[in-house]
Amino acid sequence: MVSPMGLLAVLGCCSLLLSLFSCSPVASFVWGSRLRAKNDRPILGVLAQESKYNKFQKFGSSYIAASYVKFLESAGARVVPIRLKLSDEEYDKIFQSINGILYPGGGASLVTSEYSRVAKIFYNKAIEANDKGDYFLVWGTCLGHELLSYLTSGKVLLSRTNTDGFALPLNFTTEAVKGSRLFKNFPDDILQTLATKPVTSNFHHWSLSKQNFTENKELRSFYKILTTNTYGGLECISTMEAYEYPIYGVQWHPEKSQFEWKDSPGIPHFPSAVRVAYYMADFLVNEARKSLHRFPSKDEELKALIYNYAPVFTGASSVFQQIYFFD
Ligand SMILES: *[C@@H]1O[C@H](CO)[C@@H](O)[C@H](O)[C@H]1NC(C)=O
Ligand SMILES: *[C@@H]1O[C@H](CO)[C@@H](O)[C@H](O)[C@H]1NC(C)=O
Repeated sequence: MVSPMGLLAVLGCCSLLLSLFSCSPVASFVWGSRLRAKNDRPILGVLAQESKYNKFQKFGSSYIAASYVKFLESAGARVVPIRLKLSDEEYDKIFQSINGILYPGGGASLVTSEYSRVAKIFYNKAIEANDKGDYFLVWGTCLGHELLSYLTSGKVLLSRTNTDGFALPLNFTTEAVKGSRLFKNFPDDILQTLATKPVTSNFHHWSLSKQNFTENKELRSFYKILTTNTYGGLECISTMEAYEYPIYGVQWHPEKSQFEWKDSPGIPHFPSAVRVAYYMADFLVNEARKSLHRFPSKDEELKALIYNYAPVFTGASSVFQQIYFFD
């Protein structure tokens, strides 16, 4: 572990940090530099979830908070909503057409929900495609991060934590400082902000402890821990990336600083917090740019895009300013 002060000391010596981030001989360095054509019109799927626990369910049986959509749009992507209850054929067609998928936060069951069922379909397709040399991003935020731990291990290994509604800095692991795909190109000031200022929004009741992660063979061999946070004495995984796949999980919410305005100490809006959010989106969208999946026709692309739906303003009585609803 590198403590904030320790990282700060390293950060104080910028050239050292730069060399740590750019010269580390980790596999991802070789892997990330594989020659690829770039797709500058990336389209990301954002997975819907059941509205069951959402008081706005009268607007539709499933929803996507608009902040996830804007987050991706802020860095140059377009979004296709991944609705629930489609057929396997329809999901396969969507998979072949989009460049990555984001599993948002929320309150759906990791085991029994449609959110989890559909996430698993895309996760399995992503693993298979990446194994064949394709590149397909899978990103989990908050519940999505917890879901990734379930999809990879087949087990719910979470602990109940009191972690709803505050912002924290991140504790970077030595591995993250030495070399991660996610953080290695972040500017020094952004890393310093992440390590020392309360810029990461925490709105969760469950967490993946480092102990449960480390004791599980599937998890520890699949993901590299990039950051942890200690909640009530329990050290938990707050950021992870898969060693061999473009699969990433963040327990915190990089989309909230820019796009959610519920009055909460958990949503920092100061300039460096917003800059952190942008760099997270930029990384994610750049991963999607490495995928050359595309819709078979312009017409099918237009019909699938989220622009066909209008978000509902829910900010007066919800944690979300705007929400997209689907039948
Ligand atoms: C590990 O996971 C189990 C659920 O499988 C949970 O009950 C337990 O609290 C977790 N332990 C730690 C230390 O996180
Ligand atoms: C960082 O790690 C230290 C040492 O384990 C811990 O005391 C501290 O609470 C952690 N900081 C955060 C923000 O989680």
